[in-house]
Amino acid sequence: MVFNFDQLADRKSDNSKKWDREFNEGYFGKLPDEYISMWIADLDYEITPIIHKKIEEIVDKKTYGYIYFYDELFEAIKQWQGNKSDFSLNNEMISLNFGIVSALYVTVQAFCREGDSIIINSPVYNPFRVAAEVNHIGVLENELEVDQEYRYQINFKNLEELIVEHQPKIHILCNPHNPGGRVWSKEELQKIADLCLENNVILVSDEAHADHINQGQFTSALSLDKKYTDNLIVLNSANKGFNFAGLKMGYNIIPNPDINNLFKQQLKKQGILEPNIFGAAALCASYTNEGKEWLEASYDYMVQNYDWASSYLSQEVPELKITPLDSTYLMWLDVSSLGMNGDEVVERLAQEEGILFQPGSSFGQAGINHIRINLGTSKEVVQKSFRKFADWCQKNKR
Ligand SMILES: Cc1ncc(COP(=O)(O)O)c(C=O)c1O
Repeated sequence: MVFNFDQLADRKSDNSKKWDREFNEGYFGKLPDEYISMWIADLDYEITPIIHKKIEEIVDKKTYGYIYFYDELFEAIKQWQGNKSDFSLNNEMISLNFGIVSALYVTVQAFCREGDSIIINSPVYNPFRVAAEVNHIGVLENELEVDQEYRYQINFKNLEELIVEHQPKIHILCNPHNPGGRVWSKEELQKIADLCLENNVILVSDEAHADHINQGQFTSALSLDKKYTDNLIVLNSANKGFNFAGLKMGYNIIPNPDINNLFKQQLKKQGILEPNIFGAAALCASYTNEGKEWLEASYDYMVQNYDWASSYLSQEVPELKITPLDSTYLMWLDVSSLGMNGDEVVERLAQEEGILFQPGSSFGQAGINHIRINLGTSKEVVQKSFRKFADWCQKNKR
């Protein structure tokens, strides 16, 4: 099937966090009449045809009553995950979430008490931090290091020292990592899992971006040996791959029955009981051959956007440091050579040029010199915005 990713959905009129003017002015300040939004990880494409069809079928029936976590959902998840690891999944291990973010909160509430802490590798997706902070749980940050290719690396010595000294209850790993798109190798995962096991720390693997792998081999934490998967919570959804975050649907996989029971009790306390009828249908439709075809075609298109943007920027503003795109559709750029940090670049670009990028500081202080750019849009939008961005850098660098 041929998909047209040059043609974009109209997002300015749907109360979208990404495109709504009022919402974005609250975040970026006064915007010019014309603006292009490339921040939050939300695609500008129309929904996958197979998902649209399944949702239309429900709409045509005109009934939207309660549903349960039905067999087709379990089967779809087991099959999709079965393509990523040899782990033998059963229905008991799978539970519902209302998007991974909801499950981050549930995890913290289930396994931490006031005075406890969690550990994360920063900069990282901010809800990891917020889920702990709003529950009065401490956050230990193991700062990632960059290698010569501007790829993130884990400082294992530091990670171990922090774990041994502070005994956090859980380690939330972003696998693959957002921002920066790093795909952790099996050896790296194993080292992390070892540290967790030795120190009684539950490993939580957020695999939100696992459907977008450009370079390297994704390893689900479920591929690790049983002793590690017995100490593991995997959080997942199809929201990044298939772009239906607004349907609030995702799932958790927990092999160890004791950990699973505690987690499920907390799900109940949070009232996370039954799926949304549209979210469930969308998840089943995603995890099919037709869904996969769209996923691959859309990601190819986004990788082409990245290839064009990175070669253009390397020519026009060679001082910017571009992180290789191993995973995700989100370019991660170190802008410090412009003589400004990411906050200043983002605020000025938004207000002066109407180009909305995401400040790296929104992933923690460790991201202060970076900006993140969402390439899940048309080639035309990418080229227009990067031309403006490069001109602006040339005029304003100090
Ligand atoms: C690492 C990571 N986890 C979770 C999410 C959100 O997932 P969900 O929409 O399922 O809550 C995102 C969104 O960008 C993300 O980057």
